[in-house]
Amino acid sequence: MRLVPPLFSRLICIKNNSNRKTMILPILAYGDTILRKKTKSLSKDYPKLDVLLDNMFETMYAAKGIGLAAPQVGLPVRLFIVNATPFEDDEDLTEAEREFASTFVQVFINAKMVEETGDEWAFNEGCLSIPDIREEVFRQRTITIEYYDEKFVKHKETIDGIVARIVQHEFDHIQGILFTDKLSALKKRLIKGRLADITKGKVEVDYKMRFPKVKKKC
Ligand code: CO
Repeated sequence: MRLVPPLFSRLICIKNNSNRKTMILPILAYGDTILRKKTKSLSKDYPKLDVLLDNMFETMYAAKGIGLAAPQVGLPVRLFIVNATPFEDDEDLTEAEREFASTFVQVFINAKMVEETGDEWAFNEGCLSIPDIREEVFRQRTITIEYYDEKFVKHKETIDGIVARIVQHEFDHIQGILFTDKLSALKKRLIKGRLADITKGKVEVDYKMRFPKVKKKC
């Protein structure tokens, strides 16, 4: 998920404490079949998970993202990361929500959505795989989710508001769902041309991407 523009400048980078060299990965654009693939669960012995996570955080921060899912970097596995910290200054949120978001940086492995409750509310969502398109998406306010963290410790958490929103968007990615799937038929028709342009790389973007209809240079 991508940050709302006014918050760009407030993005906080969390440094990793290791000396490993990280790599910015290309983000797959709308139309890539990997974004729609069935994802596999991760086992404890998944090779170089620590390196992958460092790279995913680096990639997310470089793209000013607030969430990134493994399929977006070409891996159809049940993994995503969330960084809600830029919302600590968002004046549209309640103080409790700002406080909660201010420290929320989390790895979600093999997440399972236990429950979604509460009224649906609209939020203007964007996605690193769908540059330049933002639309109001309706989702329920509160979620209960089960997942493992990077140390394979199991968690079961109930989250609401803006953090739940980011988690719902990223969780959708590991289900092969994109936010544009949730729009009305009319809205879908209106953005069809722009989505087709994205698949061809006809979009301005300030981070590293790979487009399905652009041939790779040898
Ligand atoms: Co997204």
